[in-house]
Amino acid sequence: MNDMAPTREQRTAALEGMGCKRKRVEDIRFTQGKGSYVDDLKLPGMLHGDFVRSPHAHARVKSINSDAALKVPGVLAVITAETLKTVNLAWMPTLAGDVQMVLADGKVLFQNQEVAFVVATDRYAADDGVAKVVVEYEPLPVIIDPFKAMDKDAPVLREDLAGKTSGAHGPRKHHNHIFEWTVGDKDLTDAAFRKADVTIKEMISYHRTHPSPLETCQCVCSFDKIKGELTIWGTFQAPHVIRTVVSLIAKLPEQKIHVISPDIGGGFGNKVGAYPGYICAAVASIVTGKPVKWVEDRIENLTATSFARDYHMTTEIAATNEGRVTGLRVHVLADHGAFDACADPSKWPAGFFNIVTGSYDFPTAHLSVDGIYSNKAPGGVAYRCSFRVTEAAYCIERAMDILAQKLKMDPAELRLKNFVRPEQFPYHSALGWEYDSGNYHTAMRKMMETVKYAELRKEQADKRAAFRRGDTREIMGIGVSFFTEIVGAGPSKNCDILGIAMFDSCEIRMHPTGAGIARVGSKSQGQGHETTWAQIIATEIGIPADNIMVEEGNTDTAPYGLGTYGSRSTPVAGAAIAMAARKIRAKAQMIAAYKLEVHEDDLEWDIDGFRVKGLPEKTMSMKDICWAAYNSVPPGMEPGLEAVSYYDPPNMTYPFGAYICVMDIDVDTGVYKVRRFYALDDCGTRINPMIIEGQVHGGLTEAFAIAMGQEIRYDEGGNVVTGSFMDFFMPTAVETPHWETDFTVTPSPHHPIGAKGVGESPNVGGVPAFSNAVNDAFSFLGSTHIQMPHDYWRNWKAAKNLGVLT
Ligand code: CDP
Repeated sequence: MNDMAPTREQRTAALEGMGCKRKRVEDIRFTQGKGSYVDDLKLPGMLHGDFVRSPHAHARVKSINSDAALKVPGVLAVITAETLKTVNLAWMPTLAGDVQMVLADGKVLFQNQEVAFVVATDRYAADDGVAKVVVEYEPLPVIIDPFKAMDKDAPVLREDLAGKTSGAHGPRKHHNHIFEWTVGDKDLTDAAFRKADVTIKEMISYHRTHPSPLETCQCVCSFDKIKGELTIWGTFQAPHVIRTVVSLIAKLPEQKIHVISPDIGGGFGNKVGAYPGYICAAVASIVTGKPVKWVEDRIENLTATSFARDYHMTTEIAATNEGRVTGLRVHVLADHGAFDACADPSKWPAGFFNIVTGSYDFPTAHLSVDGIYSNKAPGGVAYRCSFRVTEAAYCIERAMDILAQKLKMDPAELRLKNFVRPEQFPYHSALGWEYDSGNYHTAMRKMMETVKYAELRKEQADKRAAFRRGDTREIMGIGVSFFTEIVGAGPSKNCDILGIAMFDSCEIRMHPTGAGIARVGSKSQGQGHETTWAQIIATEIGIPADNIMVEEGNTDTAPYGLGTYGSRSTPVAGAAIAMAARKIRAKAQMIAAYKLEVHEDDLEWDIDGFRVKGLPEKTMSMKDICWAAYNSVPPGMEPGLEAVSYYDPPNMTYPFGAYICVMDIDVDTGVYKVRRFYALDDCGTRINPMIIEGQVHGGLTEAFAIAMGQEIRYDEGGNVVTGSFMDFFMPTAVETPHWETDFTVTPSPHHPIGAKGVGESPNVGGVPAFSNAVNDAFSFLGSTHIQMPHDYWRNWKAAKNLGVLT
């Protein structure tokens, strides 16, 4: 019989724990159309709301007449700023310490700003009502170019801030200025530039774009007048934070607010903040006593509900003739739109942009950021990026290529020369971070060997010669990018939202039969948490992942968590899960010792249970321990087997990666072909390699979109000209290149399972790889830097400007 006992490998495989390519359990419902999204929710008597929005980017609102709208069959109410003032909700606080109009109060500051909220018995009636609301506007001068926002005669955008010489982040220099943020040693950096053999300076723009999740932002609010309770179902990446915000601004006791995030169809940072739709639906429900649904359409989502990037980075590097970097100086002009609603931890007005020294050992650096107001939508969300990290990575990775060009050095060699060396970790960067771990040279060399980098450069040289001879009209670009990410916000010492430390949490309850439920403070928007969180628990406590149900998103049942964005789930919630599981295992060990009649110290862990040291046949499986926890615990011990952990990480985690893009561009048409894209990621311990690969594919596709065409663009009058998928580049399988993925593993030394986040790495590293490929292609024609996005037209225009069109 003993021959039939499962082997250690079989026992390990049966758990489907960490390292296993476990199939996504969520997909059973998603692939059958059985997901449960906000718009699937239909409550008895439910009403629908829709917004009247401003056609102007800047205008005074002279009057709003709702008479005709209220005569539309089915329309029950039209809510304006005047209505909201009666409940003190005409303005709401933002996560960045500013205030934002919920509905236009006297003026509008960006196109499609919310002006009035029409409530009706169905969505069609609400839309008809919207068309009948008459708003009289007086147009005002518009600021779209951030470089003009602080001109002496620039129009005053935020009249509500008149006379306020300081904001949430210190002094304001101008009526359209929000904050100045500086980091680093200015004197030392200036001295490095004075002594430098070589310097470069370039204004590198990262254009405005948008996360555009498949499912737009939406909610259903239901106020129970009898109980005085408000239930909100919504597309929230951070449901507990929403509950606290609602409690603070609506002055409702927090226990009377129930926030539920059901399945979410992509977030990418778009669903972190609070939007006027949520406030208006809640007020409408309180006023009417009925549940109210608000679902925005695609154009509303793209034009009004947040944005990402819009950073204009004047970047300088000082270096020696041999290519050793000696100083970095960056000034950022950050366009925050009409209200500062950036979703960053409280103390970080420019997020973690001070990771801008990247993977390089800069002895000194200085950074200053000026945030300004303009007539654009507010937001500044972390679109698959931890708080401005993607802007920082783009900035330094373009700048390193520009330096390589000036030094006539190979860009990969320049990087290898300047990388932080393995023995320098934990590494203290010139701008204040402590990088936990890394092995950059190994990753870079693996990438170069796999793609046969030297051969590619040889091919490029031949192709350039052929171009010069007139034998081809195609130019070849090789885009190298090496990024260091900073994810896992974050340690309570420097990260909070509204004063709440950015810990995360997990509660595990094991049932008598050896199954259990884990409730977690994070909230998946498609990242597969139900699959991977169970894998962590499976390895930690030896119960098959299939026997662990994972639940997130219900503030009544999940422990308080700060939610999912900025790839913080694995570094923070993932750690809380491991720690909660270890508490379970510790209690299980006491129960096993009692049942096996040995001292706890005589037991050792063995895959799926405990065994007595030196007596391998004397074992107790975790499954049996679960049963014992409910009927025969040691005297004096409470029955049951559950644990909670709130995890405050000691540091962020620092994933990294080496990417390369090989691209051909036809100079006569600007048409490009991505011939090869290779992405090597190091996210420490890998929980589920298949999910990681999916995350990388998705992030690279977004990076491809952003670098090669995706943009929220305005005309001079402040009209959004890329406000629908007709104009906003959304790559399909047809345009998307083939991705090659690879990895190295450098575990985080402080994370309980050594894991780092991965979800946003491909967006962070991908954008510079694409942009460097385009810029590398044109560099031999005398170009230094071409701004993104690199669509066909702009490539053609670049060729034209370089005088190579026939
Ligand atoms: O916060 P978010 O879930 O967006 O990002 P993440 O922590 O990078 O995790 C994204 C997905 O990748 C999750 O399902 C993780 O469990 C998985 N992952 C993994 O399997 N191994 C890692 N080292 C990091 C993430």
